Amino acid sequence: MPLHVEQAAALSGVTAAVGDARALVEGEASYDAVLALGPLYHLIDRADRVQAWREFGRVVVSGGVIAGAAISRFAALNDGLRQDLIGDPSFLHVVDADLNDGRHRNELNVPGRFTTAYFHHPDELAGEVADAGLRLHCVLGVECTAWLVGTLPVLLDDPVRRGLLLGWLRRIEAEPTLLGASSHLLTMAHR
Ligand SMILES: C[S@@+](CC[C@H](N)C(=O)[O-])C[C@H]1O[C@@H](n2cnc3c(N)ncnc32)[C@H](O)[C@@H]1O
Repeated sequence: MPLHVEQAAALSGVTAAVGDARALVEGEASYDAVLALGPLYHLIDRADRVQAWREFGRVVVSGGVIAGAAISRFAALNDGLRQDLIGDPSFLHVVDADLNDGRHRNELNVPGRFTTAYFHHPDELAGEVADAGLRLHCVLGVECTAWLVGTLPVLLDDPVRRGLLLGWLRRIEAEPTLLGASSHLLTMAHR
């Protein structure tokens, strides 16, 4: 978003520019790490996502880390359950589309609902990484099941309970049977 990039660029020590993940202007092997915290879940077509992964691999140094954020196929369903939206017909329509093919749309422009996006099945990420010629390190659940807990903000404000929670999350973050329950996934890959 140009305004945010402009604000970031004004910070001391920060270089920022608007770009498209599918066609980065940066040269080959020009960064130690790539954090792709947005594009992968806004590129609806698989070919575009693989192209973006290819670009991340091109600009990172050999062995450098690439972290790509994705949204889980089941995020809107779980969020709706959490918010008691289950009887809302407009919501049912959105979840139905998500579960069918991961293409999430807010066609009725309901305020507060997420925009056009692609919601990954956790098992898909390894294939995208491989098709881009990269080496998968791991797929992690960012929140795992903790985001479904109504008291999460209170829990995070308490240093002792926050420490315990983060300890448990570290133990389950790579558990394949829980990945789909996390709203966000982080895929770590190498060139
Ligand atoms: C939900 S925002 C997350 C932004 C940021 N990571 C954060 O947590 O605040 C998704 C971001 O992905 C960016 N994005 C979408 N498609 C993109 C593309 N093809 N290339 C680069 N960025 C893209 C959007 O501009 C937006 O900034």
